[in-house]
Amino acid sequence: MSPDVPAQRAIPGAIDSTARAVARARLESLWARGTRFLGCEVGILGGAMTWVSERHLVAAISNAGGFGVIACGAMNPDQLAAEIAATQALTSRPFGVNLITMHPELASLIRVCLDAGVTHVVLAGGVPHVRTASMVKEGGAKLICFAPALVFARRLVKAGADALVIEGSEAGGHIGPVSLTVLAQEILPHIREVPVFVAGGLGRGEAILAFLEMGAAGAQLGTRFAASEESIAHPRFKEAFVRASARDAVPSIQLDDRFPVIPVRGLANAGTHRFLEHQRETLARFQSGALSRLDAQLAIEHFWAGALKRAVLEGDVEQGSVMAGQSVGMVTAIQPIAAVIAELVSQAVDALAARPEA
Ligand SMILES: Cc1cc2nc3c(=O)[nH]c(=O)nc-3n(C[C@H](O)[C@H](O)[C@H](O)COP(=O)(O)O)c2cc1C
Repeated sequence: MSPDVPAQRAIPGAIDSTARAVARARLESLWARGTRFLGCEVGILGGAMTWVSERHLVAAISNAGGFGVIACGAMNPDQLAAEIAATQALTSRPFGVNLITMHPELASLIRVCLDAGVTHVVLAGGVPHVRTASMVKEGGAKLICFAPALVFARRLVKAGADALVIEGSEAGGHIGPVSLTVLAQEILPHIREVPVFVAGGLGRGEAILAFLEMGAAGAQLGTRFAASEESIAHPRFKEAFVRASARDAVPSIQLDDRFPVIPVRGLANAGTHRFLEHQRETLARFQSGALSRLDAQLAIEHFWAGALKRAVLEGDVEQGSVMAGQSVGMVTAIQPIAAVIAELVSQAVDALAARPEA
């Protein structure tokens, strides 16, 4: 270069468009197994959230290139059929349906999915019966199951699961005891037969990228989508997400081993404090003989009945159950779904593009 021509200086932190295109192609190859399996463009699933994951949110996620999943939790077969039809009216892209294995009408719900041409059925709440797995698969849908440990992952693959989700204890809603960081190390290196999606605590693209590089086929997010513009959750529910930090999303507390409490992660509020008080009072009534053990257990279990609906639909974020993952700290605004997905992709691409060449 001649001495009188000023040298072109690279702007610190700037990533050129070629590096970004290469990085984008790399990201696409990292989640190719997942996107092929799901039939979508971006290896990101919207985890099913009862009362939240209905037609609008599910269609918005699928229309933005991800994979939406209807939460059937509280629906009967007729309601599910209507929700699937309404979702199909809003998107021509694939989406899934999440069913809970202990639902008393499980077989009818599966039939509804198959009749409506749903391509992917997610079974949550335990290892499904062989008959249930075969019904889904023989009906032409792909079966996705949750694996809470390597031994279950192996059992689920044998039972016919076409893909697995491993969800860490950082997640919102019902949780297991193990973090995603540990579950991923326990399961990803050993399960290569089927795609494995990671969930729990994911709020940025760099983290998704790290798990893809460990062998995940894609990621499932709930919390960030619950607070999106398209989510039908009450404005107070979404605002609580924007205000909260990671440490506000805590698991429910069990006071006595004799009365188990299913761990659920949500925002601490007056309801979670009242739940402790309720357990204390119930225990005292049990100890004084005023309540049988069974009645005491039922009293504890019934405390949260209807509480998620109250928080999500009615906006009672003080007494209701505001289920949220630790990723809630990464919800800083109520954004459209397409913007959330674009941001996650762009963070992963930027992280790849900024790497020094090997
Ligand atoms: C409000 C809320 C409700 C949820 N409800 C369900 C549910 O009904 N069924 C289910 O399988 N998972 C449920 N989940 C878990 C999500 O599907 C997803 O796996 C989880 O949110 C991922 O972790 P993240 O919250 O850190 O993104 C729920 C999560 C939230 C935040």
